[in-house]
Amino acid sequence: MGIMVWMLQLVTCFIIFFGQPSLSVDYSPPPTVLMGSSTLNKHHLVVIVTEYPVSTKIKRNTTGYIVGMEGVSPLILDWLSHRYKFNYSILDINAPPRPLQTLEARGPNNPGIISYAVGGECDAIIAVIQPTPFRLRQLEFVHPWLYTPIAFIIPMPEVSQNNIDALIKPFQFWVWMALILAIASVIVTLSLLKRFLKTTSLNITSVSINENSFIYVIGTLLNQGGYISNTMTPIRLVVGAWCFLLLVLLNVYNGTLISYVMATVHALPLINSYKDVSDSHILLVVNRGLGPDIVLSTAESGFYKTMGDKLLAHSKSRCNSTRQCVELVKSLPAKYVYLDGEVTLKAAIQEDYRQTGQCKLTIAAKNEDGNLGQGWGMAKASPYREKFNRGILRLHEMGLISTWQKWFEPNTRPCLNDNKDKRKAKNRKKKQLSRISLANLTGAFTVLGIGFLISLLVFLIEKAVFLWKTNRVLVV
Ligand SMILES: *[C@@H]1O[C@H](CO)[C@@H](O)[C@H](O)[C@H]1NC(C)=O
Ligand SMILES: *[C@@H]1O[C@H](CO)[C@@H](O)[C@H](O)[C@H]1NC(C)=O
Ligand SMILES: *[C@@H]1O[C@H](CO)[C@@H](O)[C@H](O)[C@H]1NC(C)=O
Repeated sequence: MGIMVWMLQLVTCFIIFFGQPSLSVDYSPPPTVLMGSSTLNKHHLVVIVTEYPVSTKIKRNTTGYIVGMEGVSPLILDWLSHRYKFNYSILDINAPPRPLQTLEARGPNNPGIISYAVGGECDAIIAVIQPTPFRLRQLEFVHPWLYTPIAFIIPMPEVSQNNIDALIKPFQFWVWMALILAIASVIVTLSLLKRFLKTTSLNITSVSINENSFIYVIGTLLNQGGYISNTMTPIRLVVGAWCFLLLVLLNVYNGTLISYVMATVHALPLINSYKDVSDSHILLVVNRGLGPDIVLSTAESGFYKTMGDKLLAHSKSRCNSTRQCVELVKSLPAKYVYLDGEVTLKAAIQEDYRQTGQCKLTIAAKNEDGNLGQGWGMAKASPYREKFNRGILRLHEMGLISTWQKWFEPNTRPCLNDNKDKRKAKNRKKKQLSRISLANLTGAFTVLGIGFLISLLVFLIEKAVFLWKTNRVLVV
C-alpha cells in the first residue's frame, strides 16, 4: 500500500516537473497537422505553407484548425509525396492567434519563415518565393514552378463622355488641311475665272441669282447644293471636279463617322509601360516586405534603384495588405500604381470586383523580361532537394503545372479579358446590336451649341454696331 502511495507521489511529481514547460504560456510550438500519409512511406517531411493566389489557399474550420488546402502548390506536394513516398505534415506557424509571419524576420513576434527552415524546424517552405541575394544565402531554391510577369494595377481609364473628337477623327490632320486648301483654291479659281472671262460672256445678267463662289463652295460642301449660272467650259470643269471630289469625300466621311460616334472612348491610361513609372507625378505602391518591395528597396543601380528611391520617398508607398494597396490605387486623384506579379494583381482585381461589383482597376505595363520564376525554398543541404527538383521538372514536362495553374487562375471577367478567353467569349451569346444613344452624339450637340453661341455673339455685336452707328448719325 505504502509503495503504491509512494509511486503515485513520484508520478505526480514527475508530471508536475516535466509537464511544467507545456503549461507555460510563453512558448508553445506551432501545431503540426498531418496532411498526407501512407503506410508504405519511409520518410516524413514537415513543411510550412503560406497563402498566395493560385499557389495555395488554406481552409480552416471555425477554431482555426487547418482542414484542407487548395491550389497548385498542394497538388504538386501531393504528387511529389506519392512519387517519392513520404508522409508530410504542415507546421502551422500562422494558426489563428499567432501573428502572420513574413519570410524575413520582422519584430519579436515575427522571427520570419526563413528562420524555421534555417533552424531545421521544417524541411521546405511551400510558397511563391522570389529569389533575392539574402534569401539565396539562407535557403536552397527548388526549381521554380511559377512564372508570372511583373505588372501594375492602374485605375481603369474613365470612359470619356465628351466625344467631340468623333467629328474630327474620321479624317486625319493632313486630310483636313488638304480639304481647306482645296476649298480655298476652288474659290480663288472660280472668282478669277469669273472676273477674267466676264467680258466674253454674253448673258451674264439673264439670271438674277446673287452668285457668290464662296457661298457655292461652302453650300455644296455642307450638302446644301448651289447654283452657278455661268455655262462656260472652264468654270464648268472646275465645278465638276469640285463636285466629284465632294461626292467621294462626303461619303467617306459619313461612313467613318458612324463608327467613331459609336465607339466607347477611354481616357489615356495612367501608365503605358513600366518606364512611365519614373514620371514624378506617378506614385508606386507595393506590399510591405514581400518580393517586389525587397527587390526594389535593395537594388543598387539602374531602373530598380529609381523605383526603390520612389518607394522610400513616400510614406504611403508600402501598404500592409493588398487591400490597402488597391484602395490607394482607387483613391482620387488617380496617381498610384500597384506593382506585383500578374497573378496577385488578377486576384486583387477579382476580389475588388466581388466586393464592389464594379470594374475600377485594370492591369498595365506587363513586363515579361527578367521573369526568373518563383518557387519553393528548402533548408540548405536538404536531402530532398534533388527529388523536389526532379519532380517539378517532370511536372513541367508533363504540362501538369500549367494545367493546374489554369484551374486556379483568378477569373477576372468581366473586368479583364485576356486573349486566352477570346474563344470562350465568342461562344457566348452574339454581341447585341446597340442603337445610337444621346451619349454617342454629345460631341455633335456640343459643336452645335458652340455654333449657336458664336452666332448669337456675332448677332449681338452686329446689333451693337448698328445701334452705335445710328446713334452717331443721330448725334451728328
Ligand atoms: C506514414 O504514415 C503512416 C500512417 O498513415 C505510418 O504507418 C508510417 O509509419 C508513416 N511513415 C513515417 C516515416 O512516419
Ligand atoms: C476543427 O478541427 C479540429 C481538428 O479536426 C477539431 O478538433 C475541432 O473541434 C474543429 N473545430 C470545429 C469548430 O469544428
Ligand atoms: C502598417 O503597419 C505599420 C506597423 O505595423 C504601421 O506603422 C503603418 O502605419 C501601417 N501602414 C498603413 C498604411 O496602415
